[in-house]
Amino acid sequence: MRVAMIGSGYVGLVSGACFADFGHDVVCVDKDPGKIERLNQGIMPIYEPGLDALVASNVKAGRLSFTTNLAAGIKGAEAVFIAVGTPSRRGDGHADLSYVYAAAREIAGAIDGYVVIVNKSTVPVGTGDEVERIIADARPDAEFAVVSNPEFLREGAAISDFKRPDRIVVGTDDERARAVMTELYRPLFLNHSPLLFMGRRSAEITKYAANAFLATKITFINEMADLCEAVGGNVQDVARGIGLDNRIGGKFLNAGPGYGGSCFPKDTLALVKTAQDAGTPVRIVETVAAVNDTRKRAMARKIIQLAGGDVRGKTVAILGLTFKPNTDDMRDSPSIAIIQALQDAGATIRAHDPEGVEQARLVLTNVDYCDTPWAALEGADVAALVTEWDAFRALDLDRVKAVMKTPAMVDLRNVYRPEEMAKRGIAYVGVGR
Ligand SMILES: NC(=O)c1ccc[n+]([C@@H]2O[C@H](COP(=O)([O-])OP(=O)(O)OC[C@H]3O[C@@H](n4cnc5c(N)ncnc54)[C@H](O)[C@@H]3O)[C@@H](O)[C@H]2O)c1
Repeated sequence: MRVAMIGSGYVGLVSGACFADFGHDVVCVDKDPGKIERLNQGIMPIYEPGLDALVASNVKAGRLSFTTNLAAGIKGAEAVFIAVGTPSRRGDGHADLSYVYAAAREIAGAIDGYVVIVNKSTVPVGTGDEVERIIADARPDAEFAVVSNPEFLREGAAISDFKRPDRIVVGTDDERARAVMTELYRPLFLNHSPLLFMGRRSAEITKYAANAFLATKITFINEMADLCEAVGGNVQDVARGIGLDNRIGGKFLNAGPGYGGSCFPKDTLALVKTAQDAGTPVRIVETVAAVNDTRKRAMARKIIQLAGGDVRGKTVAILGLTFKPNTDDMRDSPSIAIIQALQDAGATIRAHDPEGVEQARLVLTNVDYCDTPWAALEGADVAALVTEWDAFRALDLDRVKAVMKTPAMVDLRNVYRPEEMAKRGIAYVGVGR
């Protein structure tokens, strides 16, 4: 099939490359000429494991190409995906739909023949109706259907998530569109991934409900961690104790510095706004967002406490900057609020991240970025493990003790065991233990 992907970011590029790998003929469009130029040279604009090889092999096979020219990109396409950003709107936290609507207008100007317009961006309920209206107004002659097909991939594991999804959600009542979507995803449901058809509005809500539920699970265990700290308990035992119950499940029960990233913070906020506008506030999600927001700065206080209650004039080594391992994405990473709070308290920051430094430089200033964890730890008064990259999982603890000015570590991901740290003579605090 001929497929066009409008927006070649994390979602558009990964989805486009995977569809090409299924054998479809895919054109990825982006309005950022620098991004398209780099892609045409085989340089990935993002760090995602395995993506460069997947893109290279499909470009070589002639199934995947890149352009800034939307009209040329969608010519002859049976499905046109919208995978542009939907960030939080400045001021009120609603989803900013200006990129989605701009893409819809551009698509309207270029369609030729029946086409299925598939919204893959995360958008509030009713956005599909508006996209349909925009296109019908601009092109009363056009034959098209607007479908919702939210994406559930996780950065860092995006390719395997796309190729082996738990489910594929498709929102449409249009029989022709249903046939196109079935054909497009045939390789996946042959592989036993269920293809769930539902109404368009239900599909739009499903994406927000999934993210809000996961954000709630994380926030719940974070609050249990605080309770464990206060009364004497180990949150990892509690998480295992509840997670083995099939009704609860063990995933997303790792206590830590609070959720971040390009999706949970903005999607929980957008859901809160949508529900308020509908007169049915989602109080649980409102609370989750508020609790998570205050948690990040609270983690800085944990670090300050281990440093003796004051970090003015002291050096803090930060291990990990991205919101999770195996991505270079810094959007809403907890490290941002933590570092800013430490800087407000007068600390000097030395940081290392295996892939995130280039993006971190755009959001965090006055940080001494180091090429290795050792350079960051050298002479530091306290260290904080913020992102659980594999590179930080088996540090030579004797060397940690030797290079730091004061051997002290706050482990916001509970990577190390308190006993082993005590044995090495490193002052140590985890989360909820
Ligand atoms: N990143 C994730 O892990 C993830 C997972 C699931 C869903 N989503 C959702 O998918 C959507 C995209 O997210 P992302 O992280 O890929 O965003 P991104 O910012 O990485 O990429 C969006 C791209 O769209 C391009 N673009 C914007 N308007 C355009 C237009 N009119 N024509 C062509 N290109 C245009 C931008 O230049 C940018 O490259 C969002 O709604 C997001 O919430 C993201």
